[in-house]
Amino acid sequence: MITKINALKEEINALRATTTEEVEQLRIKYLSKKGLVSSLFNDFRNVPVEQKREIGQLLNDLKNIATDKINSLKEGLAGQADAKAAEIDLTRTETPLPLGSRHPISLVKNEMIDIFSRMGFTIAEGPEIEDDWHVFSSLNFAADHPARDMQDTFFIMRNPADVLLRTHTSSVQTRVMEKTQPPIRIICPGRVYRNEAISARAHCFFHQVEGLYIDKNVSFADLKQALLYFARQMFGPETKIRLRPSYFPFTEPSAEMDISCNLCGGKGCSFCKNTGWVEILGCGMVDPNVLEACGIDSKEYTGYAFGMGIERITNLKYSVKDLRMFSENDVRFLHLFDAAH
Ligand code: PHE
Repeated sequence: MITKINALKEEINALRATTTEEVEQLRIKYLSKKGLVSSLFNDFRNVPVEQKREIGQLLNDLKNIATDKINSLKEGLAGQADAKAAEIDLTRTETPLPLGSRHPISLVKNEMIDIFSRMGFTIAEGPEIEDDWHVFSSLNFAADHPARDMQDTFFIMRNPADVLLRTHTSSVQTRVMEKTQPPIRIICPGRVYRNEAISARAHCFFHQVEGLYIDKNVSFADLKQALLYFARQMFGPETKIRLRPSYFPFTEPSAEMDISCNLCGGKGCSFCKNTGWVEILGCGMVDPNVLEACGIDSKEYTGYAFGMGIERITNLKYSVKDLRMFSENDVRFLHLFDAAH
């Protein structure tokens, strides 16, 4: 009996377990009613009386050793689990993080801002909800100009004062001229709204970058040089520009600028309707009436202004044919621009 007890004691002392299920199995094997320790207690009946005291003591010790061992195995495993849990940082984000990409309109807008910044232009911004004065009247629009019509412009309120969604960011130029005396050299990027049926070629909103430079002795030659620099930076050093006379209420003289079609290199394709040229912007010398309306002395100062659609520039740069793609936010389209960052 004593040998059996000692053998079992050694066996129990050497027990190992790696999972809680294993520990439970050991507990059943040694300590349950039919377990090895309990069966020794059953044998206790047959122990001669004179040995009962000694063996009883040994048996009790064995049971305590077995219980302690099982408990310490259990605790050991729990400790390990805690240590593992401590290693896991639940505040960490999932990896790899799915990255978003910048919208093509933002990419091109930033590029335009970069180019004009190098020529000393700074950014000016203004409200999208505007009044008649800043969008039309200060800019020399005639009372019966079609842009003042509900057909062309989104009016929020007609009377007593007109409140409308700006149709161009020239309104920001007015706001700057009212507050600042020349020299002024700003570009105004932003969203504009026009009451157009949505199609591949037109949308009820789009984005513009308009520019304004006012100082003493600013000439049309300065305007042309700035625009040539812009076109070559944006579309490559081979790009040619062409200015055609045009009309805007707020500039005199006015022009529209074409660049050599950068899809066919000026040879003629369906995009440029076989002319080799595509129109990208309107421009001109700021009309003296506009300077005066904004409190700038038109005898002392002259200036030029230009304005263009960011969508149009993006179309040309990335051959996007359908304007609607810019506002659908289809990730398959947006991901095409990942590499352009
Ligand atoms: N504001 C004009 C437009 O929205 C663009 C423009 C700006 C033309 C400045 C000439 C000078 O079409």
